Amino acid sequence: MPFVITDPCIGTKDHACVDVCPVDCIHPRKDEAEFEQASMLYIHPDECIDCGACVPACPVAAIYDSVDSTPSTQQGLVEANAVYRAGDSGAVAKAEAIVKAHMAAHADLMAVPPAERAAAHAKG
Ligand code: F3S
Ligand code: F3S
Repeated sequence: MPFVITDPCIGTKDHACVDVCPVDCIHPRKDEAEFEQASMLYIHPDECIDCGACVPACPVAAIYDSVDSTPSTQQGLVEANAVYRAGDSGAVAKAEAIVKAHMAAHADLMAVPPAERAAAHAKG
């Protein structure tokens, strides 16, 4: 299981990760219909080749390099990354439902500005 996008992406969607990913496994891209509506972006776990280029590209440190390194408060979003499929409305809705549940369950983190959320993960 490869890299995982977590909640600092919510409200940020910087897109720099998409621009550096060599295998185009981060979605939705800006040129995909779902981009505007998506709460965050997702890494397709079967397509990611663990190259690591996305991690330093993200200005809010939203990306962890494995499921194991993903903090406990963010583990629910592992599944959101796994189920999201661009162009599949059912999968998109499923991923978004997971994200909405995460936001409801972690109102404390959502109250922290996105740029400071990764630091808050470490404390939680
Ligand atoms: Fe792409 Fe990041 Fe995986 S750049 S290949 S999503 S580690
Ligand atoms: Fe999100 Fe960071 Fe990519 S904010 S869109 S994971 S560059």
